[in-house]
Amino acid sequence: KTKVAVFASGTGSNFEALMDKVELESLDYCVALLVCDKPGALVLNKAAKYQVPVFVFDPKQYNFKSEFEQKIVKELQNRHIDWIVLAGYMRLIGPTLLTPFQSKIINIHPSLLPSFPGKDAVGQALATGVKVTGVTIHFVDEGMDTGKIIEQESLRIHEKESRESLQQRLQSIEHRLFPKIIQSLISSDNKEGAFLNEKESTT
Ligand code: GAR
Repeated sequence: KTKVAVFASGTGSNFEALMDKVELESLDYCVALLVCDKPGALVLNKAAKYQVPVFVFDPKQYNFKSEFEQKIVKELQNRHIDWIVLAGYMRLIGPTLLTPFQSKIINIHPSLLPSFPGKDAVGQALATGVKVTGVTIHFVDEGMDTGKIIEQESLRIHEKESRESLQQRLQSIEHRLFPKIIQSLISSDNKEGAFLNEKESTT
């Protein structure tokens, strides 16, 4: 199976949704590592529950992003990780990590990008008064929520909807959409790889 590392900083409800799906269905991938930049984050308890190995670090203990990213890359390579899935990892990815994982890092974001990138997309949508928002899954580049869009699902905001309600409705879209899109990306990438190998061996 293709090995995926999930990166998360917070509660880990997306991590949990991914794990539930991976355990219930026969997919082309497994979650082989959780990378977390917040010692004490709730997502770490969830990793323990599913017995997923974790790599936790505290960015404050490093002078440069490249230093902790080098450690992450080493950890990913030791574990033969092929894909990185950002599930609430609230940090920009630098070239140290981007270069060896080119086109293999995806992110989920609770807005219809390019609207409301960065932190608190739900609050930004409510403050602006838009009537429609949604969820975006995209490839990660060096920018803030700027990479090529893979999938989006929209959601109509109710009259006077509370933040909690909107957040919860967006998250239930995320929990359904993310495992499905990861599966389809990885299975088509694996098929493409097999096709190229076959072509190479017959020419
Ligand atoms: C998710 O809603 C995710 O889309 C968002 O953080 C939340 C993490 O929740 N990510 C971003 O805003 C990225 N810019 P979770 O820890 O419960 O999965």
